[in-house]
Amino acid sequence: MIKKVGVIGAGSMGSAIAEVFAYNGLDVILKDQNMELTEKGMKNIKRILSDFEKYLKERPIKEIGRIEKLGIALTEEQKNLIVKNMGSTIDQDSIIGRIKPSDNYNDLKDCDLVIEAIFEDQSIKNKLFEELSEILPDNTIVASNTSSLSITEMAAHYKKPENVIITHFFNPPYTLPLVEIVPALQTADSTITAVFEFFSALRNHREKLVPVKVKERTGFVVNRILIPMINEAMKIVDEGIADIKTVDIAMKKGAGMPMGPFELADYVGVDIVYHVLRSFREAFGDNYIAPETLKYMISAGWWGIKKGRGFYNYKK
Ligand code: NAI
Repeated sequence: MIKKVGVIGAGSMGSAIAEVFAYNGLDVILKDQNMELTEKGMKNIKRILSDFEKYLKERPIKEIGRIEKLGIALTEEQKNLIVKNMGSTIDQDSIIGRIKPSDNYNDLKDCDLVIEAIFEDQSIKNKLFEELSEILPDNTIVASNTSSLSITEMAAHYKKPENVIITHFFNPPYTLPLVEIVPALQTADSTITAVFEFFSALRNHREKLVPVKVKERTGFVVNRILIPMINEAMKIVDEGIADIKTVDIAMKKGAGMPMGPFELADYVGVDIVYHVLRSFREAFGDNYIAPETLKYMISAGWWGIKKGRGFYNYKK
């Protein structure tokens, strides 16, 4: 039974994953390389929670506005009823209070599940699994949030490879419920079952989490489809067929996508798109060569929303 969770890496994914667990009433240890980085993650969690509370407060008011826009006049009593039935709130302090910021591996000792969301680099992740072998008890399940790296290789660096698995969240996990569950070659069935049961009982800010089992193959399901689409969008711009904005409008208005490929790339992180494309090229061949522009964007630090600049400029 998974009751206490550890999250290693308090970046954009790690901090948001920790928030989902704490939102579900679980005790969480959030660890980064030092306290300054962990506190940065805690700050992100506070922002996520205050945005969520604002959304919850505004929801009934928006609903009243929507109904009145239809020409339906509501009485004060009806408005109060909408506020009463739709209005909900969260206890930010107790959610935050369940997350213990840390820079010390020893704090993870009594976690039933530890998920790593550190840099997307196979050798850094392998090293982490070796370090965790020294600290965690034999029954802890150790998961990776990797988008593109080999879990079978990470498992080979852990003392109990049968306890190792990928739990791949999507950005942002508090609104996107999918979790791709990817066993390594060595993963025990009992680990898969425990992880499935655990995630099936959790919810994010919007709905229940949706774990799906996927085979270990580059890109799994979602990225295998999304990343080539973003690559194709970049090629279209490179060939002068349309500009960035036009491509985004085309895919939103012509394909019903909620975000265009470039908006999505900025959201996911241009650096992540770049790294995943490199592993796609290795796995699937030269169709996945990224346009050169992407390389220069990486050098310039135009990594998307998190850096204030990506395909679009977010600096006001
Ligand atoms: P990020 O760069 O925002 O955060 C990574 C964090 O890990 C940093 O705070 C860094 O200091 C910390 N870190 C690095 N090495 C560490 C170590 N040895 N011990 C403790 N902390 C360490 O990265 P992001 O975007 O959160 O990605 C993390 C992982 O999640 C990657 O594997 C990535 O592929 C995956 N992922 C990312 C998604 C995204 O949309 N950004 C979506 C799904 C998965």
